Amino acid sequence: MGLRNRSGVYEQHGDGDRAQLLPPHKSNARVKGTWRQFAWLAASLFILVAVALYWSRSRHVATESYYVVHNAVVHTVDLDRPPAEAFVVRNGHFVAVGDKKILFEAHPLAEKLDLDGKTVVPGLIDSHGHLIEQGLAFLQADVGGSQNLAEVRGSLVRYLDARPDIEKEHGWVIGKGWDQSKWAETNYGFPNATDLDRHPRLSKVPICLYRNDYHAYWLNTRALDIVASHIPPPDQKMEGGEVVRDASGRLMGIFLDRAMEMIDLALPQPTETMLKDALHAVTSRMLQHGLTGLHDAGVSAWQMGILRKAVDEGRMPIRNYAMVRCQDPEKYCGDTFTKGDYGGRLTVGSVKLFLDGAVGSWGAALIDPYSDDVSKSGFVRIPTERINDLITEWAQNGFQVNIHSIGDLANKLALDGFETCFRRLGLNGTAAYNRRMRIEHAQIIVFKGLRAICKHVFKSQQATSDMAYVEKRLGHQRIRGAYAWRSLKNAGVQHLALGSDFPIEGVNPLLGIHAAVTRLDESGASPHGPGGWYPSERLTPEEALRGFTLDAAWAAFQEHELGSITAGKKADFAVFDRNFLAEPQDILKANCVATVVDGVVAYGHL
Ligand SMILES: *[C@@H]1O[C@H](CO)[C@@H](O)[C@H](O)[C@H]1NC(C)=O
Ligand SMILES: *[C@@H]1O[C@H](CO)[C@@H](O)[C@H](O)[C@H]1NC(C)=O
Ligand SMILES: [Zn+2]
Repeated sequence: MGLRNRSGVYEQHGDGDRAQLLPPHKSNARVKGTWRQFAWLAASLFILVAVALYWSRSRHVATESYYVVHNAVVHTVDLDRPPAEAFVVRNGHFVAVGDKKILFEAHPLAEKLDLDGKTVVPGLIDSHGHLIEQGLAFLQADVGGSQNLAEVRGSLVRYLDARPDIEKEHGWVIGKGWDQSKWAETNYGFPNATDLDRHPRLSKVPICLYRNDYHAYWLNTRALDIVASHIPPPDQKMEGGEVVRDASGRLMGIFLDRAMEMIDLALPQPTETMLKDALHAVTSRMLQHGLTGLHDAGVSAWQMGILRKAVDEGRMPIRNYAMVRCQDPEKYCGDTFTKGDYGGRLTVGSVKLFLDGAVGSWGAALIDPYSDDVSKSGFVRIPTERINDLITEWAQNGFQVNIHSIGDLANKLALDGFETCFRRLGLNGTAAYNRRMRIEHAQIIVFKGLRAICKHVFKSQQATSDMAYVEKRLGHQRIRGAYAWRSLKNAGVQHLALGSDFPIEGVNPLLGIHAAVTRLDESGASPHGPGGWYPSERLTPEEALRGFTLDAAWAAFQEHELGSITAGKKADFAVFDRNFLAEPQDILKANCVATVVDGVVAYGHL
């Protein structure tokens, strides 16, 4: 049993084609013999091509699929029919949802797939992640989880052991995952280049490591020597970022936010093979966790080329709603991209703008200084006088505008920018709302004055891995507006799409659902104990699931075809081995056993 064994259907289809292809009979016997040979050859060729074409198509759209899934706990996320026990899939779409008996009678020819009581949800959609970055991260050194600097060095040395080519061919070590808030040795402040140089092998190879929030680089001295020519002198003021130096002006090896751009110029680019491997790795991982879609939060022109090619070659097993990103973040570059839908697997029509940095590296733009370092209040990455014009220009050109805003100042600037843009374009009420402008993260919000504007604006959140230190950074007052999911809903936000921001959080969407429902980390802990961190901000399991399905689809203008198990929508769904919505403590124990896209099994078995 199972969809994998359905190839018989395809073969019948091929035979039908051959019957039609045979040429009309000729009266001349000799010609007839030659013709017969030719016909056989042509027919065989045709069948080969037809089967090949059909096979390549069937990997995306199984036009022949026709089955009824039953004996399942189905969370449809369809408000008109939330629970169900069965549904019918035909030609890649849901065609009926409801009771097994009725569906069996109405669809006697559909293959019956008994799910043995397993749980089915709509294909999960991560409304904020970074596809290529996550794929490459799988190939990079990972120093995440290091409790001290020696552990960082240890994992880098192990990485070198595993990849002897790097030292032999004078390559770079690119890595990620460090978090200085975990290390007592640096007094919880930034590390420096010599902290890496200390191991003899690490001093000889250039090293560049992303902070776990991707808003800072940490380089060793060898790497600093290579990038030196790109770095401006100490007296040159830098907007939207910082080159960290000591009192004497010496480079410490830390580059924050926009200062990272000059390092990017010097870093080696990934090869085509690496990118192919990366894309395969990340899309496979997504499918393993029930994810059928992603909103790709910032795709540059060259990355778009990679994604387009992958779609053309049938290497995009998930749906990517790609937000474009310009090389120069202050410019409009919409003409570089062609809006549209590419095979249902790539959608281009939105832009990601970056207004500030992140809390962990003191880069989130705050109205008042950080509580744990009053000399800092973060970075606004786009000159404030440019923000409103930039938003308006993108909106005028028909792009959905999605703004990375974490700090309360950035959120205020983004909301003001949307308001100005709507006013200039003469959009109010429903017309403005229909633009579905998004704030990505919306992490720290001042709720005073939010009510009026928030109905126009959609917000997306991420799981909370920084709750351990964020309270120290922000202080007790401001913290009440941080990750305030329930408050956002109460303030009138109707569509709260959720995302992981992978590779910052894990790919598994159950981590985000668990965090939203329990306000606890993976181990069941929180700064406020096992009852959860500000538990009044919890979402219900149903709301969290909506955040990863229907609300995410809405945020991408796709709610008419994705996001719920509803007749007429595309048959994207995921099967789990337990009903994780029933018991919050079960969420992280659930395993995805099958993921289906366009009605076709893309991972596991039905
Ligand atoms: C780098 O940081 C270490 C602590 O991790 C400190 O002992 C050392 O003095 C720092 N080096 C420089 C050049 O500041
Ligand atoms: C919307 O704009 C129109 C003019 O374009 C105006 O007449 C109307 O009062 C506005 N509605 C609201 C709710 O602001
Ligand atoms: Zn992001």
